[in-house]
Amino acid sequence: MKLVIFLCLVCHGIALASASGTYNVMDFGAKANGVTDDSQAFLAAWKQACSSSGQTKVLVPVGTYFLNPVEFSGPCPGVQNLIFQIQGTVKASTDLNIYKQTRGWVAFTFVDHLTLTGGGTFNGQGEASWSLNNCPRQKNCNPLPSSLHFEYTNNTVVKDITSINSKFFHVALMNCNNFQGSGITIKAPDNSPNTDGIHLESNSGVTISSSNIGTGDDCVSIGQGNSFVTVSGINCGPGHGISVGSLGRYNTEKDVKNLIVRDSTFIGTVTGVRIKTWANSPIQTTAQNITFSNLIMKNVGNPIIVDQTYCPYSNCDNSVCINGYM
Ligand SMILES: *[C@@H]1O[C@H](CO)[C@@H](O)[C@H](O)[C@H]1NC(C)=O
Repeated sequence: MKLVIFLCLVCHGIALASASGTYNVMDFGAKANGVTDDSQAFLAAWKQACSSSGQTKVLVPVGTYFLNPVEFSGPCPGVQNLIFQIQGTVKASTDLNIYKQTRGWVAFTFVDHLTLTGGGTFNGQGEASWSLNNCPRQKNCNPLPSSLHFEYTNNTVVKDITSINSKFFHVALMNCNNFQGSGITIKAPDNSPNTDGIHLESNSGVTISSSNIGTGDDCVSIGQGNSFVTVSGINCGPGHGISVGSLGRYNTEKDVKNLIVRDSTFIGTVTGVRIKTWANSPIQTTAQNITFSNLIMKNVGNPIIVDQTYCPYSNCDNSVCINGYM
């Protein structure tokens, strides 16, 4: 009996290590029944992939997975390229209490050369919490968790994935260098609050192309501290268009520069492209070298807006004059 158990452990160990660096979450105990929390299985597969070497892969096969908040973090020093291949659908918990100390729902942090792909779907199940979001009405609010959060990643590729019904942003990028997104499908109802498709803050070198984004807020929002961002080939709508900002709200903000938005289509959006800055900013920052070109708009409320007294609430403090109107 002892011998049999021993042999099985050995076989299992070999199976995990041998499949040319592929770590299938099913081999780490994922249930894929859409009800049982599979996050420990995902994290265990990630840990193995991250501590291996060369080209390595986390595989999430077809199926429906239930996932509590997870953070897939590096660094993964021996890894040249880590492919996270998601073919199935992952569903988020609707219990907001478990997101209190997390960077959103599914986070990738401190990792270099990550590719997230595979045609799978992230379902944030936001419809259960949109009515609890007070951010559209109140300056000091607790933001709901974003679905996919990238922070301190370098050389990231996100290709052929879908995000539906995020609680807050569908995709958020913070402090990332060299990010390439394409073939991204984003869907949420036009009245879902703060469900920005892709939100950028403090990144350098971001390309978003060939993606379909229909949501309740900006299709792409380019916030403070970004440079060298190119957005092209986007079908935006419904949504609030592609925005730069809002800028000038906090004293920690950095300049925005070298942005290009081109070759995109807006259908039935509230605005097309806009730059929004708060009045009465605590520090002076600059938004410069922004190019909008070849944008097709149909049934769009305001095709182009530069709003320097942005105020999403009924009342903002606009008591100080704006200096240096550009
Ligand atoms: C990303 O690049 C920056 C700047 O070169 C570097 O300081 C940082 O350690 C890199 N991060 C990762 C996770 O490789």
